[in-house]
Amino acid sequence: ESTLGAAAAQSGRYFGVAIAANRLSDSTYATIAAREFNSVTAENEMKIDATQPQRGQFNFTAADRVYNWAVQNGKEVRGHTLAWHSQQPGWMQSLSGSALRQAMIDHINGVMSHYKGKIAQWDVVNEAFADGSSGARRDSNLERTGSDWIEVAFRTARAADPSAKLCYNDYNVENWTWAKTQAMYRMVRDFKQRGVPIDCVGFQSHFNSGSPYNSNFRTTLQNFAALGVDVAITELDIQGASPSTYAAVVNDCLAVSRCLGVTVWGVRDSDSWRSEHTPLLFYNNGSKKPAYTAVLDALNGG
Ligand code: G3I
Repeated sequence: ESTLGAAAAQSGRYFGVAIAANRLSDSTYATIAAREFNSVTAENEMKIDATQPQRGQFNFTAADRVYNWAVQNGKEVRGHTLAWHSQQPGWMQSLSGSALRQAMIDHINGVMSHYKGKIAQWDVVNEAFADGSSGARRDSNLERTGSDWIEVAFRTARAADPSAKLCYNDYNVENWTWAKTQAMYRMVRDFKQRGVPIDCVGFQSHFNSGSPYNSNFRTTLQNFAALGVDVAITELDIQGASPSTYAAVVNDCLAVSRCLGVTVWGVRDSDSWRSEHTPLLFYNNGSKKPAYTAVLDALNGG
C-alpha cells in the first residue's frame, strides 16, 4: 500500500494524526492529512476549555470542524480528552471538592452525549500520574476531589456512550522499568479486577533525549494487553525523527494483537507543538521525510 492509513489497515489497524482546526484551510496540510491517515484526533478542540468555556455552555464549533472534516474524509475519530488537570477553563480551575467532582461528571456527560455513537475511542482521563520515581498520582484539583475521580470518570463515560472504547492516556509510560509505568499498570489491573469500565490504554509516546524510546516498549504493550485492555500509541513524535526509531515503534504495535493503531501528533514539523525537535513525518514543505518511508515500509511488513 502507498499511504500510511491503507498500509495500517492491512492488519486491521489505523494510522492516525492530530488535526488542528485552524490548519485545515492550508491546502498542503489538508491534502496530506486527507491522503495519508485514516484516524483523527483533535489536537486541542475537544479539550475542556474548548468545549465548555463557560460553565454549562458547551461550544462544539471547533471540535465539530475537526470531527466533520474527519468523517467527510472517511476517517475514524479518537476523542481527546474529557478529564485532565490541564487546559481547564477558568471557571473549572476555581472549583474544588464536590462542586468540581460534579462539574467533571457534567462535562463528561455533555461532551459524550454530543458525540454519542460517533467516537471510536475516548481519552476519558489524561495524565493522572506524577512524573519521576514516586509512582504517585499527580497532585491536581481533580485528585484533591478524592482519588476515586478516575473510576468515577470511567463509569460516567460508559453510561454516557456505551459504544466508545474508553481509554486512560499518559506520557512517560512507555518504558516498562519506569515507576510511572508501573503505577499505571497497577491502576489498570485494579480497575479490571474490580470491574471499572476501562477498555484501552493510550501511550502518548513523545520521545526525546530526556525520555528516549526503549525497546522494552513492546514488553509494556504486551503486559498491558495481557490485563485485558487494548493499547494504542496516541501522540507519537520523536525528537530528530530517526527512521529506525519510528520503524521500531510501529513494529512494537504490529507485534501486539491488541494494539489498535498509531497516531502521530501532527502532520509537518512546522505543525508540531515542539517543532524545534523536527519530530514528525513530513518536512515543512509537505514532502516526505525518511521517517515516513521507514513507517510505511514497516506497516507494509518491512
Ligand atoms: O488558540 C490560542 C490562540 O488564540 C493564542 O493566540 C495563542 C497564544 O498563546 O494560544 C493559542 O492556544 C494554544 C493552543 O495550543 C493552540 O495552538 C495554547 O496557548 C497552547 O498551550 C496549546 O498547546 C497545546 C498543548 O497540548 C496544551 O497543553 C498543544 O497545541 C498540543 O499539541 C498539546 O497536546 C498535548 C496533549 O493534549 C496531551 N499530551 C501532551 C501533548 C503535548 O503537550
